[in-house]
Amino acid sequence: MIDRFEVGDLQGPIFNIDEDTDVEYDAIFIGGGAGGRFGSAYLKARGGRQLTIDRWPFLGGSCPHQACVPHHLFSEAARELDLARTLSGQLFYPEFDESRASILDLVNLFKSGRNSAHAFMNWQSKEQLGMEYILNASATVIDSHTVEVAGRRFTAKNLVLATGSSTVLLDLPGIDLPGVFDYATIIEDLDYDPKSCVIIGGSKVAIEYGSFFQAAGCQTTILTRSPLMATKSLHHVDEDVRQYVVKGMRDRGMSILEGAQPIAVIGTDRVTGVTARLADGSTVDIPCDMVFMGTGERANSSHFVEVLGVEVDDRGSVIVDDHMRTSVPNVYAVGDLIGAPMEMFKARKCGVTAARNIMGEDHSFDFTEYPDFLHSTYEVTWVGLSEVEARAKFDEVIVIQMPPPGVPHGDIPLPCAEGTMMLAFTYPEKTGFQKAIFDAKSRKLVGIHHVGFGAKDSFQYLDYLIHRTEGLSIDQLAEMNELFLNSGHFIQLSRLRAGAMELSSL
Ligand SMILES: Cc1cc2nc3c(=O)[nH]c(=O)nc-3n(C[C@H](O)[C@H](O)[C@H](O)COP(=O)(O)OP(=O)(O)OC[C@H]3O[C@@H](n4cnc5c(N)ncnc54)[C@H](O)[C@@H]3O)c2cc1C
Ligand SMILES: NC(=O)c1ccc[n+]([C@@H]2O[C@H](COP(=O)([O-])OP(=O)(O)OC[C@H]3O[C@@H](n4cnc5c(N)ncnc54)[C@H](OP(=O)(O)O)[C@@H]3O)[C@@H](O)[C@H]2O)c1
Repeated sequence: MIDRFEVGDLQGPIFNIDEDTDVEYDAIFIGGGAGGRFGSAYLKARGGRQLTIDRWPFLGGSCPHQACVPHHLFSEAARELDLARTLSGQLFYPEFDESRASILDLVNLFKSGRNSAHAFMNWQSKEQLGMEYILNASATVIDSHTVEVAGRRFTAKNLVLATGSSTVLLDLPGIDLPGVFDYATIIEDLDYDPKSCVIIGGSKVAIEYGSFFQAAGCQTTILTRSPLMATKSLHHVDEDVRQYVVKGMRDRGMSILEGAQPIAVIGTDRVTGVTARLADGSTVDIPCDMVFMGTGERANSSHFVEVLGVEVDDRGSVIVDDHMRTSVPNVYAVGDLIGAPMEMFKARKCGVTAARNIMGEDHSFDFTEYPDFLHSTYEVTWVGLSEVEARAKFDEVIVIQMPPPGVPHGDIPLPCAEGTMMLAFTYPEKTGFQKAIFDAKSRKLVGIHHVGFGAKDSFQYLDYLIHRTEGLSIDQLAEMNELFLNSGHFIQLSRLRAGAMELSSL
């Protein structure tokens, strides 16, 4: 059905509601993405009655449609392409064939498969979670208890606003030219294989999409006003990690212009370049056939400000308390709509928090600390403090690091593990980087950072462990049973130091 809606064979709203029950809804969720769907499912599980409305013909929202899922496909493609190019003509690797590395092929591959995930989420929500929903229809709020959708009005004790966010397009001359894309339009509209690209922005989207474009043979320039990966929107980024990641991107041929600001997108019928002011004040024209915007997201909040008068901050994000309550009684807001961090865990747990409070629990959600990640050609993961932050906070800090400071990476093929074994024996300096930071007095782990592959899972649990009141000590790390050879060498490395009364770096 979703395929048929997409091509226009089917039209109109999809109703999956219980017409026989006239019990008032406990909550109407406007938006059925990560926040809306998880909140709805939780509220239903608690015995409440929910209605979820989405303008798309499926539940699940932007993550599986245009954001996280294609980003992961592209990042995996980047890793495969980079490895194939690095080892081209060696061992069993054929000579790398640039003509077969295509951005368009990957976009089309994603588009041809994404509806399966969407269909699964509709099925799961209906058959396994018992949710009521209306899809393929926009919701209009009438007041804080009433929503109009597909010509019908529905009432609820509470509203949960969950309409997500959209890319901030800079106000630049030429920004409307064909050839300017963001993460959403590249999926929907790309119809050629770009050969050269300028990316504006210096955070996750810029690094992830830029790394993919470059790996697919599209010469990529990143224009970033802050140092790459040192944007305010990313916290706890360790400087050594950042430098390893950025150097790797440069080594793979990307041009990274820090302290640079775009002035105009150039072109008559379509994009032919970008004019930028560089850090030294000079102005350059950078030729390209694609411009890609990685300039952040802004909340889709204007309708709620207009109709309900919900309070928003200077970026338009809806202001909520730690129960997800807005300034309007009985109106909650969740997910990207309430601002940073714009991550799935936060959107889903915000939805659940709203549901729990609506169902009578006094539940708060604090998302000031969380594990984080991004992809270059590597998976980069971190949680807790950077080394600089740790040294500012604690008197005695020790660092367990691989490779250790002062040892040339070319001389030591570590940290090698999943995804870097082939590199360890060919290009040791490409095996990644990792460090664990301890407060030497309490012996507790206060920050941990990894560049490589396959460590994301362990970082979820590390985040949980280090943020418990009792924390996680080097001695407890040393007690763990490692599945050697593994991406985080932290357990066995901690064991080498844990015997000492006075800890020292390694
Ligand atoms: C390129 C990119 C990659 C990302 N990768 C990751 C990742 O790897 N991991 C991660 O954790 N996070 C990632 N994120 C962030 C993540 O996608 C978001 O934080 C998450 O999707 C937010 O969920 P949400 O429910 O708030 O919004 P959404 O999932 O966007 O849901 C909002 C829903 O509201 C609907 N809607 C809007 N207006 C209306 C209306 N008037 N009526 C009815 N329905 C409406 C929309 O159709 C949509 O389904 C990425 C973001 C981007 C941009
Ligand atoms: N988990 C994941 O892997 C993942 C992946 C992708 C996206 N996401 C989420 O999706 C959201 C969007 O990501 P993002 O990378 O686009 O945004 P972001 O983290 O908000 O970063 C925005 C970037 O755009 C720059 N910028 C903003 N306004 C600008 C201007 N007027 N001129 C020049 N540069 C400007 C910022 O520079 P300054 O630093 O100088 O302000 C920053 O580098 C984020 O919240 C992110 O967490 C998550």
